Amino acid sequence: MKTISFINLKGGVGKTTLSTNLAYLLAESWELKVLFIDNDKQGNASRWLGADPNQGTLANILMDGAKASEVVQSSRHGNLDFIAADMGLLEANLAVLGRKTQRQDVILKQAFEEIADQYAVCIIDNPPDINMSVFNALSITDDVVIVTLPETDSMDGIKKMAAQIEDVKQFNPYISIKGVLVNQYLSYPDLSDSYEDMKALGLPLFHTKISYATREAKYRLMTASKTGKSIFEVCPNCRVARDMMHFAEEMFA
Ligand SMILES: Nc1ncnc2c1ncn2[C@@H]1O[C@H](COP(=O)(O)OP(=O)(O)OP(=O)(O)O)[C@@H](O)[C@H]1O
Ligand SMILES: [Mg+2]
Repeated sequence: MKTISFINLKGGVGKTTLSTNLAYLLAESWELKVLFIDNDKQGNASRWLGADPNQGTLANILMDGAKASEVVQSSRHGNLDFIAADMGLLEANLAVLGRKTQRQDVILKQAFEEIADQYAVCIIDNPPDINMSVFNALSITDDVVIVTLPETDSMDGIKKMAAQIEDVKQFNPYISIKGVLVNQYLSYPDLSDSYEDMKALGLPLFHTKISYATREAKYRLMTASKTGKSIFEVCPNCRVARDMMHFAEEMFA
């Protein structure tokens, strides 16, 4: 199982939009068996995936010692299963932090061993935060995708994120930054191109940029997230959908 974490300390950059749609694409079009982990107490991806509030969540793994197989839910797509999150993750993070007798960062890793070989890909949507559940997610992550807006102001945040990933190598030597992914990209001829500025970070940068959705595409993106559909179902020919397909190809090339 290859595990990919979408991450950035900055909120609203598109982590959930891109991770959920990539999961859908890999499961439906690429016919891969995909496990999605919602690691954000906001639970946006869980709602999109149709989570059953009566079933267990990631918090139960972290806090109550539940096995991954006890909390995995099926989505409406045969190849896409998921582990949901809700506000319980807030309490779980505090509980894990207060646990002094056991290692705090490998709980998820231990809970996952039993199901890891059932899936080809695991995609994790992380919160705009660094906490114990994020460290747990990074302990099982192979490839990190740092999602960013094309703004020079975002550079410091990306550098901080990259430094955190370096630290995680102490307990997960397999982790690496697959790339910085620019979302909501718009090019103005009279402004310096922020994508070019990003190259100065010295980090791997995805060649594919996800375009800023036009008014029509944005409407469809919002409809998709409200109705639990993917951008590929509601607007397969939108630029954003095509960019996402190129991103998937680049990610798995
Ligand atoms: N390429 C795009 N063009 C236009 N709007 C976009 C694009 N990608 C995402 N958005 C919009 O940006 C908003 C934030 O997206 P999203 O929730 O995916 O960000 P996030 O990084 O997961 O946020 P958070 O940090 O709160 O979890 C949403 O309204 C989404 O529809
Ligand atoms: Mg999100």
